[in-house]
Amino acid sequence: MSPSVSRRQFLALPAAAGAVALLPAGLLAAIAAETPALPDLSDWGKVRAQFALDPGYAHFASFFIASHPAPVRDAIEAYRRSIDQNPFLVIEQGLFEDAAHNVPMQVQKELAAYLGGEPEQVCLTRSTTESLALVYHGLPLKGGDEVLTTVHDHYSHHESIRLACHRTGATMRKITLFEEASKATTDQLVERLLQGIKPGTRVVGLTWVHSATGMRLPIRQLAAALKARHPEVLLVVDGVHGIGAADETVATMGADFFCAGCHKWMFAPRGTALIWAKSENWARLRPTVPTFSDIEVYNAWMEDREPATPSNAARMAPGGFHAFEHQWAMSAAFRMHAAMGRPRVAARIASLNDQLKKNLAQNRKITIHTPMSGDLSAGLVAFEIDGLKTEDVVKRLLERKVIASSSPYAVSYPRLAPSLVNTPEEVDRAARAVHEIAG
Ligand SMILES: Cc1ncc(COP(=O)(O)O)c(C=O)c1O
Repeated sequence: MSPSVSRRQFLALPAAAGAVALLPAGLLAAIAAETPALPDLSDWGKVRAQFALDPGYAHFASFFIASHPAPVRDAIEAYRRSIDQNPFLVIEQGLFEDAAHNVPMQVQKELAAYLGGEPEQVCLTRSTTESLALVYHGLPLKGGDEVLTTVHDHYSHHESIRLACHRTGATMRKITLFEEASKATTDQLVERLLQGIKPGTRVVGLTWVHSATGMRLPIRQLAAALKARHPEVLLVVDGVHGIGAADETVATMGADFFCAGCHKWMFAPRGTALIWAKSENWARLRPTVPTFSDIEVYNAWMEDREPATPSNAARMAPGGFHAFEHQWAMSAAFRMHAAMGRPRVAARIASLNDQLKKNLAQNRKITIHTPMSGDLSAGLVAFEIDGLKTEDVVKRLLERKVIASSSPYAVSYPRLAPSLVNTPEEVDRAARAVHEIAG
């Protein structure tokens, strides 16, 4: 049974007819009627104008957490207003309506179009952290199994693996893919990964764009090499700093499970994220949080039996009532990206980052840790100034009204992340500030 058809049955809500009566054209149509059309996004000044960022600062840490652009603010506000007017009717209708009107399913459709996949392959979550935790805890790991990861991944990724291993008796091992990100090559990365695989390796966990150094792993090549030699090993990718920054079709990149927050480069509402996987991989997972999205689980509970069908994306989606105005407004951000064009967005981000790296590279007191090549980098520039501590560089940039960040890793570097909210002039201004601090 399609999860859509009987969602209304899910909570067996007799007031369903009332909801339709109240919103005769359906919730989505009512929201669309209230929301302004997408603005003209044909030049970067117009894109920049969508953000309510404080003009007193140059914002180079937008990859940390998004400022909502106007179309996203408008969508959140439209959903919020309607929920505040009729909490029961709107949530009930939005969640348990047929596929054409069911809001999460429509959101999945928009996300799938961007990812190059199918709506039923997309699971809606609330952060990269939650996505990774759901995948690793869902995998049927057991004693003797190994999860291979790298020293370059984020806390949330390592902790998801460590906690899943503790529960299952599997082990975790970390390898080094490169000593210096700025000198790495694709061949070397592939070789190191393949050397790291041992007979017990069941899962490999990688990060698309490293927030420690700005390295963008060539996931497509790594996945192809891994699968050619070890087709049984599953590949989990933390893609949070690639999605919305790189021009890639995620669904064909080679990841078995792709986890990403959408509240960074995608500019989707804060507290929104996704997992993408094919149905055969969803079928491998055990859910951790009870879902509100898969009717078979509900029917099984009603009949006091185990679910009869394999696991799927809907079954893995954490249930309970959430801040739905945020989750449902994800569509606005994905539509905005579609209107700007993925190749155009990636080219703009690459050009601003290239400009910054070339400028900083002229100063011998500055070491750039991010690869200069656009093939192995995306939207982050990690650097060091001789003799200065990371926190002091970030502090002195802030004194100059340039918002940078420090990478939250054992070895930490200052980072500047030129993005769609920045102009080439701001990039020069940030670079000038770094040169001044370097002395
Ligand atoms: C590489 C990487 N993975 C995961 C996260 C956590 O993301 P989220 O806030 O979506 O859980 C971060 C945070 O910026 C990160 O840099």
